[in-house]
Amino acid sequence: MLQSFMYIQQEINAFMKPYLEFKSVRKTFPGVVALNDVSFQVAEGSVHGLIGENGAGKSTLLKILSGAYYPTSGEIFIDGKIKDFHNTKDALDAGVAVIYQELNLIPEMTVAENLLLGHMPTKSGFLDRKEMNKIAEGELKFLLENISPDMKIKELSIGQRQMIEIGKALLHNARIIAFDEPTSSLSSREIKQLYKIIKELKDKGHSVIYITHRMEEIFDICDEVTVFRDGEKIETFSDMTAVDHDILVNKMVGRSIEDIYSYRPRTHGEVVLDVKDLMGTGLSEPFSLTVRKGEIVGFFGLVGAGRTEFLKLLYGAEKKVSGTTFINNKEVNILSPSKAIKEGMALCPEDRKDEGIIAVRSVDENISISVRRHFNKFGIFLDRKKETENTNSFIKKLDIKTPSKDQMVGNLSGGNQQKVILARWLGENINVLLMDEPTRGIDVGTKNEIYKLMYNLADEGKGIIFVSSDLPEVLGVADRIIVMREGKFVESVDRDDASQEIILSHALPINN
Ligand SMILES: Nc1ncnc2c1ncn2[C@@H]1O[C@H](COP(=O)(O)OP(=O)(O)OP(=O)(O)O)[C@@H](O)[C@H]1O
Ligand SMILES: [Mg+2]
Repeated sequence: MLQSFMYIQQEINAFMKPYLEFKSVRKTFPGVVALNDVSFQVAEGSVHGLIGENGAGKSTLLKILSGAYYPTSGEIFIDGKIKDFHNTKDALDAGVAVIYQELNLIPEMTVAENLLLGHMPTKSGFLDRKEMNKIAEGELKFLLENISPDMKIKELSIGQRQMIEIGKALLHNARIIAFDEPTSSLSSREIKQLYKIIKELKDKGHSVIYITHRMEEIFDICDEVTVFRDGEKIETFSDMTAVDHDILVNKMVGRSIEDIYSYRPRTHGEVVLDVKDLMGTGLSEPFSLTVRKGEIVGFFGLVGAGRTEFLKLLYGAEKKVSGTTFINNKEVNILSPSKAIKEGMALCPEDRKDEGIIAVRSVDENISISVRRHFNKFGIFLDRKKETENTNSFIKKLDIKTPSKDQMVGNLSGGNQQKVILARWLGENINVLLMDEPTRGIDVGTKNEIYKLMYNLADEGKGIIFVSSDLPEVLGVADRIIVMREGKFVESVDRDDASQEIILSHALPINN
């Protein structure tokens, strides 16, 4: 009798308690306190947003939750019970799945094989197709729209791959599913699909944790939000009607930012870049463009419109079929990125992991990689002192959060890695700067700093072309906006004539 009463009491307690609780979680790395005494709760069946500036500790918290990192101190409770995760398998077994930006799928294998990896229903070593199809038609049907279990992962878009990761989590019976910046590489259609899935997960009683730098997403899908700053939890809001954009920004950066774009008009000089009839992969017709000294040209288009391909052609990273390029009235035959750099044109790539940073090298080496030759005093010896000064000044100027210039770049937060790439090109003697999604994964405070850096570079007479999927950003920062659609250049709109409606009307497919 007593026993069953205690049991009922326990059940009631479990019901009353939050589903997931962080208690005084602390994590330090040499020279860095990544998380300091972080406590908050996540309710069952809710979507809990995590926001904060670059390096605030968001990803570190998820890594602790997933068992990838072990906390220096503090505890995690799930359903009222203390959990001790030593690896990701421990966490998965306890119903926790974390979905990172770099997805963990094997591109050469099929959807079915990836989904069932680790716990395949196999018949004598082979995948049990019938079983798989049952799953695909049954519990995972809501995820696998237009995806057949036989397709290879490499045939899928990033958005579709994310669905497979969610499917993997569900097959592991995950009750807590955490996302680290899931929408940063998705098209707007894919974002809508992800929202739909997250709502369904929530309705099924899952708890979702959601990290993003895009503030509007917090209001679109979160029921609660916790703000981090410098490794500390600043505040949790459980009632979204009690907060707005400005309050959150204020909590994040500890000050208010009036106008994130801080645009200032500039006079434009002579033509610095002149491109005539450029044609190659990703474009469906030849394209010509001129950019003046001091001009910032924004490229907008839907994902797949050909913007990145255009930059790569210009930069010599893709082979062009035809076209001539002039920089400062001199014809330059750019057949490779190193030639581009020699001619004074640099690119900050979209995919920083693959094309940008060298993760196993230090901040110093990553920044100096292109400026190094300028510091060459006697032709062969490097001027280390000058190099160090240069790196340290960039760490300060861009507020790169790192314990020192010698930290491995792979250990920095995503946003701080991005700053390292920018620093590399800011130190370079260039005339034309190409930037592909320069503020992706970067927090509001730093975005503002990056825009100001762009204006400074333009003031110095550089021509800047930047590609962005963030329409308000393009409208806020560019002097002129070029809209691309399906590999074609559709329109060039001056800043003063541009609005969301006008730009979108050019960017959307005609039959939509
Ligand atoms: N393995 C590691 N070794 C050393 N320092 C680390 C390691 N992982 C994280 N850090 C440091 O911990 C701090 C918090 O990083 P974290 O990646 O959690 O930030 P974040 O909030 O996710 O930022 P972002 O928005 O830029 O992704 C940063 O200063 C980072 O450099
Ligand atoms: Mg992060």
